[in-house]
Amino acid sequence: ELDEQETARLKAIDQFVFTKLNDDKTGHDYAHIQRVIKMAQRLGESFSTIDLFVVVASAALHDVIDEKIVNDQVAAQQEVKTFLQQQGVSAARIDAVFAIITHMSFSKNLEHHYQLSIEGQIVQDADRLDAIGAIGIGRAFYYGGAHGHIMYDPKVAPRTKMTHDQYRQDEIVINHFYEKLLKLADLMNTEVGRQIGRQRTKILTDFLAEFKAEWNQNK
Ligand code: ADP
Ligand code: NI
Repeated sequence: ELDEQETARLKAIDQFVFTKLNDDKTGHDYAHIQRVIKMAQRLGESFSTIDLFVVVASAALHDVIDEKIVNDQVAAQQEVKTFLQQQGVSAARIDAVFAIITHMSFSKNLEHHYQLSIEGQIVQDADRLDAIGAIGIGRAFYYGGAHGHIMYDPKVAPRTKMTHDQYRQDEIVINHFYEKLLKLADLMNTEVGRQIGRQRTKILTDFLAEFKAEWNQNK
């Protein structure tokens, strides 16, 4: 599907992303990116007419401009754009990648639902699948620890509706499961994504039941 030039460009993009995320300690590290790329390729197999280059490039770049990762989003976006131009990526593809990576996040879609291209829907599903299941549990606690959040407080109920800013203020890891992670399977765009999402959600619900049972044991 990808020709030699496209493969070489994706390799350069991969190296660019590696230097940016290599030392991330919040769960948005390079290993996350590699999993998202793999999963996006797998989900893409169900579609015959997608632009695989845009899928892989967007998967690779989706966290490099994230508000959680960079202080100056405008500068980060400009740097990525310049880099892609230098690699000889076409303007149409750069636009396609940016339409995806600037609109795919869960928090962005809390107040307004963005319609993504099919390539974007695939990458969004792949990213969301990495937030659930066993790795998703690990990432949630890792993120919470990195930000100084507490694991659980039974007195504080999870919120049912939040703005983007309220979502960002989530400071109890277990509540994050209810406020985001358990919702993701139903939000999947692709059929295969939904299928894997349901399996991984079961891991979360089993975990939550066990977590609370242990928490309450010695009360
Ligand atoms: P998006 O990039 O789609 O807006 P997030 O930044 O919310 O998604 O999530 C990226 C990863 O960080 C996920 O694995 C998620 O579970 C984790 N994460 C984000 N916010 C929190 C939080 N408040 N508590 C625990 N984990 C979080
Ligand atoms: Ni991500």
